[in-house]
Amino acid sequence: MLEPALLPTPLVDCTDETFARAGVELRLKRDDLLHPSVPGNKWRKLGPNLSAAVAQGHTRLLTFGGAYSTHLRAVAAAAGALGLESVGLVRGEELADRPRNWSLRAAERAGMRLEFLTRTEYREATGRAEDGIDADADAGTAVGPHRRWGPCLVLPEGGSNALAVTGAAAIPAELPDLGGHDVLCCPVGTGGTLAGIAAGLPPGARALGVAVLRGGESYLEGEVTRLHRAAYGREFGNWRIDHAHHGGGYGKVPAELAVFAERFERRHGIPLERRYVAKLLAALTDLAAAGAFPRGTRLTAVVTGLPDPE
Ligand SMILES: Cc1ncc(COP(=O)(O)O)c(C=O)c1O
Repeated sequence: MLEPALLPTPLVDCTDETFARAGVELRLKRDDLLHPSVPGNKWRKLGPNLSAAVAQGHTRLLTFGGAYSTHLRAVAAAAGALGLESVGLVRGEELADRPRNWSLRAAERAGMRLEFLTRTEYREATGRAEDGIDADADAGTAVGPHRRWGPCLVLPEGGSNALAVTGAAAIPAELPDLGGHDVLCCPVGTGGTLAGIAAGLPPGARALGVAVLRGGESYLEGEVTRLHRAAYGREFGNWRIDHAHHGGGYGKVPAELAVFAERFERRHGIPLERRYVAKLLAALTDLAAAGAFPRGTRLTAVVTGLPDPE
């Protein structure tokens, strides 16, 4: 059994002098406290997919990820707890013969079977999974190379599909009194979390995503729009993505970001995941200092995950 989730997640005030000087309020939605092994946006996105898997009688989940993928670990933990089999297709065939790193070891310990693919095989397999989802909503039909694993629910890389978006839409639903001065903020990797947050907002409130990868302009906007169409059959005009705070690219943590994160942790007593959450908070601090938000704006930053255990 999975340990119980902490829902709704806590909401805490976090205004410091940079924000106060700009006349902007900052709050943190502590989704990092949601669940120890399926934390933050992983729980939000996986929840509806797992319910669908069980309702549709699936006994096996198949998904994708890199060598340190939080998504793979979360799927392994959730599937194991529900008595479902799980298969993880991992980017990098060279990893097959190496000792497992802590992340892949955790996934295997939770019962996930791992298969290691070359970069080309991986790109093909993830592309087909997306095609399958486009063509067949969330039926998760096993396609292409996945066929060898038999019937299974296929979850795309990062877990972002239409059902995942509806799960993330529960985040704003937990916040009372959102209105015209509210901006809900989250990091953007594949866009599923931002898509859900935007879709769950009441009229007037807006969503801001901070891209953590370099060169995502227009591609990420296209992904969010695609997910909105898949989940709700329409587009939303209440969100945007900041592309100026990726810190050099996915997984990169430049020195000034590390300094910012350490100072933030000391000051607020909240451990910061570096690749997504620290980038988000550093971006909001920078934007507030630059006067990017009208005075009176209330920002709510979603703390979407936990720092890596190692
Ligand atoms: C902690 C954390 N925050 C944010 C994201 C990005 O979410 P999305 O892929 O839905 O844009 C991820 C990746 O899944 C993540 O691990």
